[in-house]
Amino acid sequence: MNVLIVGGGGREHAIAWALSKSPKVDQLFCAPGNGGIAALAQCVPIPATDVDAMVAWACDNGMDFVVVAPDDPLALGMVDALEAAGIPAFGPRADAAIVEASKSFSKNLMQKYHIPTAKHQTFTELEPALAYVEAQGAPIVVKADGLALGKGVVVAQTVDEAREAVRAMMLDHRFGDAGAKVVIEACMTGPELTVLAFCDGEHLVPMPSSQDHKRAFDGNQGPNTGGMGAICPSPNYTPEVAGRCMEEIFLPTVAALKAEGRPFHGVLYFGLMLTPDGPKVVEYNARFGDPECQAVLSLLDSDLLDIMLACRNGTLDQADIRWKDGAACCLVLASGGYPGSYAKGYPITGLEEAGRSAVVFHAGTSLDRDGTVRTSGGRVLGVTATGPDLDAAIGGAYAAAAHIHFQDMFFRSDIGRVWNPNP
Ligand code: GLY
Repeated sequence: MNVLIVGGGGREHAIAWALSKSPKVDQLFCAPGNGGIAALAQCVPIPATDVDAMVAWACDNGMDFVVVAPDDPLALGMVDALEAAGIPAFGPRADAAIVEASKSFSKNLMQKYHIPTAKHQTFTELEPALAYVEAQGAPIVVKADGLALGKGVVVAQTVDEAREAVRAMMLDHRFGDAGAKVVIEACMTGPELTVLAFCDGEHLVPMPSSQDHKRAFDGNQGPNTGGMGAICPSPNYTPEVAGRCMEEIFLPTVAALKAEGRPFHGVLYFGLMLTPDGPKVVEYNARFGDPECQAVLSLLDSDLLDIMLACRNGTLDQADIRWKDGAACCLVLASGGYPGSYAKGYPITGLEEAGRSAVVFHAGTSLDRDGTVRTSGGRVLGVTATGPDLDAAIGGAYAAAAHIHFQDMFFRSDIGRVWNPNP
């Protein structure tokens, strides 16, 4: 089969790496791809959000299956457009991808179907939103309703901070249309973790749990990022917690989306908090998380293409989904200044040495004609190691990363070592 992956980050590199092992894949393409993906797939210079150009290219070049990995093209209806053109695709249609594209939709869904989450209210007018913040007090969480590059959530410690966040979203339009509506919710406490689950509209198969580290610096300090590293599994995800999540959150969510006429096909991302009252949903996403995907997929022991086809065809209950024993750790190497502004174009050395003991997924790199790999993004690389347990996987990722260098490189030194990575 000819398979196209849409996207160009560490997540897409991990998907390409897993798909490249499938004997059913004849040719692999990635649009736009990056400097590392180019070793596994032919990169096609089409932006991930250009639905028309992507569909036209897929038709003209005989794609048999398209994996739409990032949130934006899913929300824009790329899967719907591909299907309309006769090309099967992995990922939810826009009417199901709305679980990520609209926080208020998700909160209303959870409320209607009694899925545990923080108490909330949605606002489209500034003054009532400010009054609600005042009445509820702090800490309190303010979320832009729409997609905001992962930056649309403010956990405000004071009422002033929350009011400022509401004004930035609704008055100053910091996130454009995404902040025209805001969701304000109670602040939950407890360890946070991620469970990604394959879904085929009716059935759901959870992957091993994982844990992102969202703050930029050690000890959970500094600004929020897209994720500075991930471990798999999360030590907090005990069999008892897993059982409760399945019964109280995962199965009800898939059933709710089906009942609403929005069957979810693809990967459903459950951002969970283990509160003193039990596990609750922090957020849904409509795709693999990044960097969680890099750690989780390194433990997959089955054919990813078969699983993705089963998600599309509604046959997930018959799919062969096995995982390797042990654990994985993905350590993100970032450009100095990230998540603020940073320089690009620095040459990267040591990739070959690091690649002898770990898999180095590229997130923000470009490739020169002479083979030089350069930095081209904030999160540059995801050095991912596996081992018999978390200690071994974490040690392996740090040992491999020690070979890699580029100017102003920085990384957290405590991935997998903090009790609650996302306070
Ligand atoms: N790692 C968080 C996300 O992918 O949204």
